[in-house]
Amino acid sequence: MTLPQQVRLVEVGPRDGLQNEAQPISVADKVRLVDALSDAGLGYIEVGSFVSPKWVPQMAGSAEVFAQIRRQPGVTYAALAPNLRGFEDAVAAGVKEVAVFAAASESFSQRNINCSISDSLARFAPIMDAAKRQGIRVRGYVSCVLGCPYEGDVAPEQVALVARELYAMGCYEVSLGDTIGTGTAGATRRMFDVVGAQVPRDKLAGHFHDTYGQAMANLYASLLEGIAVFDSSIAGLGGCPYAKGASGNVATEDVLYLLNGLGIETGVDLERLLVAGQQICTVLGRPTGSRVAKARSAV
Ligand code: HMG
Ligand code: MG
Repeated sequence: MTLPQQVRLVEVGPRDGLQNEAQPISVADKVRLVDALSDAGLGYIEVGSFVSPKWVPQMAGSAEVFAQIRRQPGVTYAALAPNLRGFEDAVAAGVKEVAVFAAASESFSQRNINCSISDSLARFAPIMDAAKRQGIRVRGYVSCVLGCPYEGDVAPEQVALVARELYAMGCYEVSLGDTIGTGTAGATRRMFDVVGAQVPRDKLAGHFHDTYGQAMANLYASLLEGIAVFDSSIAGLGGCPYAKGASGNVATEDVLYLLNGLGIETGVDLERLLVAGQQICTVLGRPTGSRVAKARSAV
């Protein structure tokens, strides 16, 4: 399998990265982060979520963040929407692309969005209708594709079922999330093999968490499977509040370093990215989760 010449990076730091933070982060700091990420050349930034503030308090200010970011031409600024209410709030905030999120495991679906997988898909149907009418693109997520914190192993066939539904409903791309980071390279390849038989591979993305230190290996395994879109998070921030121990998305800096080394085009500038990562880590008062950033700051 030849590697793709280009990869599209979906920056999820301001959403997946920050949603797990217990300490309050100001709107100004979130805006500064998003602007620094677009300055680094990222073409897609997940800025926030329009979910219940009781469930994820950190995302409560998402509308204000959208109001204050410096929108650059050609950059997609997206948000999560769990239901029609979230979709409408997102549109009112000027959001032009949303993401809906389902799970491959029933237990995780219940804990994360308080409903079954099939109920979640039914909830997305009115979002898809409204989005179509309003010309808004919808991305889909499937969580727990390589393991569930409550159920353990997840069959690739189950992932394929949910991914196919999301694609059939009109999601232009489906991102497959190893929410708890237990996946390994072999399992990743098998999973893309099975899902890729149901959804075209150029409509699939990989979303890896580095909890077990496997994210980079899994990402490379996905490249070998012909996947060319990856979600990553600046400074390796992140986790999901409903997946205990799901610390750390794969760091954007580290992914970029890998892709640069392979000669794969992304349009992202590593030096500027490192500055963005440093800024948000200073705000959080925490060392970076990016190995590249750590190595570079030690020089
Ligand atoms: P529920 O409690 O079943 O819903 O929550 P409800 O309809 O009964 O509403 C409960 C309350 O929430 C009501 O308020 C609603 O008005 C309000 P009250 O009457 O109690 O004052 N509400 C809302 N408020 C703001 N925006 C909304 C909204 N909807 C209802 N959109 C619900 C169901 C889906 C709302 C809830 O479970 C929820 O918000 N869940 C979000 C969880 C979440 O954001 N998880 C993290 C993102 S997923 C992830 O990180 C994984 C991913 O990164 C991929 C991977 O890593 O695998 C994507
Ligand atoms: Mg995630």
